[in-house]
Amino acid sequence: MSDKNLVTGPESFPEPRFDDGALTQVASTKASRRQFIKGVIASGAVASSAAVFLTACEPGEQAAAPAAAAGGVERLLTLNVNGQMRRVDVLPNETLAMTLRYKLNLTGTKLGCDRGECGACTVMLDDIAHYSCSTLTHAAKNMAITTVEGLESESGELHPVQQAMIDELGPQCGFCTPGQIMSAVALLRANPNPTRDEARLAMSGNLCRCGAYDNYLNSVMRAAEMA
Ligand code: FES
Ligand code: FES
Repeated sequence: MSDKNLVTGPESFPEPRFDDGALTQVASTKASRRQFIKGVIASGAVASSAAVFLTACEPGEQAAAPAAAAGGVERLLTLNVNGQMRRVDVLPNETLAMTLRYKLNLTGTKLGCDRGECGACTVMLDDIAHYSCSTLTHAAKNMAITTVEGLESESGELHPVQQAMIDELGPQCGFCTPGQIMSAVALLRANPNPTRDEARLAMSGNLCRCGAYDNYLNSVMRAAEMA
C-alpha cells in the first residue's frame, strides 16, 4: 500500500469547485431551510401556548388534557387500594404490578416472571386472586384491590394466613410468599373449609423455587382451622 493511500487529511480531497450560480443556489437553500426550521419552532411554541392557555382557562378540563394526548384514554385514575382511594397517573398499557410497585410504592407485590406463570405478583381484585403482572391497571379501576400490605388489622395484627405461614415455617427465601398468602386468603374467603386437595388446587398457580409447597399447604390448612 502506498503512502498516498494513507493520507486522510484535507489535502487528499479534490479542490471544491463552485460557480457563482451554484453558490447563489446553496445560499438560497440554506436560507430557506433556516426559515423552515424557524417556522416549525414558532408553530410548536404557538401550539404549546395554546394548550397552556386552554388548560389555564378551563380548570375543570385539566385532567382531560393528558387523556387526549394518550389517544382518548383517561390516565388519571382513582384506585381503591387496600381500602384507600389512591390517585395515580396510569399509562394505557401499564400493568397493575407496575402501578402498585413503582407508582404506589407497594413493593410487597413481587414481580417474578412478569408473564403470568409464577404467581409472585398475585393480588386480590374484589376478593378474587389475580396475577397483577397480567392485569391492566385500567381494567382494575372499579375494583377493590388488595395487596399483601392491606391484610393486617388496623391494630397491626397479622392476618391469620400470615400468622399460619410463620407458624408452619412456610417461607424459605420468601420471594413467593406474598403471592402465596394472597392466593390462600382468596381461597379462604371463597371456601373457609377447604379440603387439602382443594387447597392444593387453589395454590397451584403459585410456584415456589425453594420447593416449600408442603409448608405452604400446611399453613393454609392451619389458617382454615384457626378461622
Ligand atoms: S410475575 Fe406475575 S405471574 Fe409471575
Ligand atoms: S420460598 Fe423461596 S421461592 Fe418460595
